[in-house]
Amino acid sequence: MTTTPTSAPIRPGTPLSLFVLGEGSDPRSERGVECPGDLPPASDPALVERARRAKAALGNRLFVLGHHYQRDEVIQFADVTGDSFKLASEAAARPEAEFIVFCGVHFMAESADILTADHQKVILPDLAAGCSMADMARLAQVEDAWDVLADADVADVTVPVTYMNSSADIKAFCGKHGGVVCTSSNAKTVLEWAFERGEKVLFFPDQHLGRNTAVLQMGMSLDDCVLYDPRRQGGGLTAEQLRSAKVILWKGHCSVHGRFTPQAVDDVRARIPGVQVLVHPECQHEVVLKADLIGSTEFIIKTIEKAPAGSRWAIGTELNLVKRLALTHPHKEIVFLEQHVCYCATMNRIDLPHLVWALENLASGHVVNQIVVDRETEHHAREALQRMLALPGETTKD
Ligand code: 13P
Ligand code: SF4
Repeated sequence: MTTTPTSAPIRPGTPLSLFVLGEGSDPRSERGVECPGDLPPASDPALVERARRAKAALGNRLFVLGHHYQRDEVIQFADVTGDSFKLASEAAARPEAEFIVFCGVHFMAESADILTADHQKVILPDLAAGCSMADMARLAQVEDAWDVLADADVADVTVPVTYMNSSADIKAFCGKHGGVVCTSSNAKTVLEWAFERGEKVLFFPDQHLGRNTAVLQMGMSLDDCVLYDPRRQGGGLTAEQLRSAKVILWKGHCSVHGRFTPQAVDDVRARIPGVQVLVHPECQHEVVLKADLIGSTEFIIKTIEKAPAGSRWAIGTELNLVKRLALTHPHKEIVFLEQHVCYCATMNRIDLPHLVWALENLASGHVVNQIVVDRETEHHAREALQRMLALPGETTKD
């Protein structure tokens, strides 16, 4: 993969490169950071008919899952749409489908493979659909962090909690160490579960979801949280800091939600009288503090569905979803929170050409882009996922 410096301007219509994070790469470069102007251009509409035909040919052998951040041209083919919690549950509840085509990103397809039966094949139409946040916590780094916690004598009393947006081996690490997975829908419930089992939580990779949940939903203080930086010796923390913390947050974030600013909230309130600000908990704490409502993508959708005609909303989440909500609810005023247009570049890798390519191959008997998690990883990751699925998934707010 190539690394593209963020200083290089990206012209509208230019294909976006994938940026690799980590050692040797440009530290400012992240997948999805550049905002080239608007949503990516729609693909050739002639492909719609081909996708329909291939889907019809596959019939009940196929089940298509679509995350809310997917493009319209793709979401129209989803048998079910949802946030990452709902899609993980849906994948687990479809033992009859031979092929699960996951229109989302890599970590979601891995979770679907872990939760589905051996005879089921999970397909990701474009393997380049990764997630910069998931890339921010690698297994070797997490193992190092665990050693740091052990040296500070706190590993035994710490429960590792990984956000769904992480690779399968990180989920397996949590499974092995008595930990669990959470999503933005159930982070509070999961943290409560973890605190019944330990004195501390190591939360990765999204510092914002961890901090927002601990402070705004569980009544902890900012001082109860410390930030572990995997690029610094010992995470950049002393043993004393680790011992006195309740929540050890991993220094990771979403390249899309992390871009919303407190200033954008002030600006939209000045621009649109009576506007209500609704944001995803992956946004920075300072943004969330200024918002009226906070919640996962499912929560955002339900809130808008229930809102009265004439109500005004500024939404801080991925652009495809916000635009779709605005189109579906023409009698409600819905704007994107930031003035800088921002969509998730890797979610948008799944486009109609890739979907058609995957479906036509499946229909003609060729399994392409299958996501397979090895058995050992799968076993332990499933433990962590099942601990989560056994808990109620409720959306966050206020
Ligand atoms: P949810 O789907 O859990 O709301 O998470 C948002 C996200 O960033 C998915 O990549
Ligand atoms: Fe990852 Fe953020 Fe994109 Fe979700 S929106 S896939 S967390 S980069």
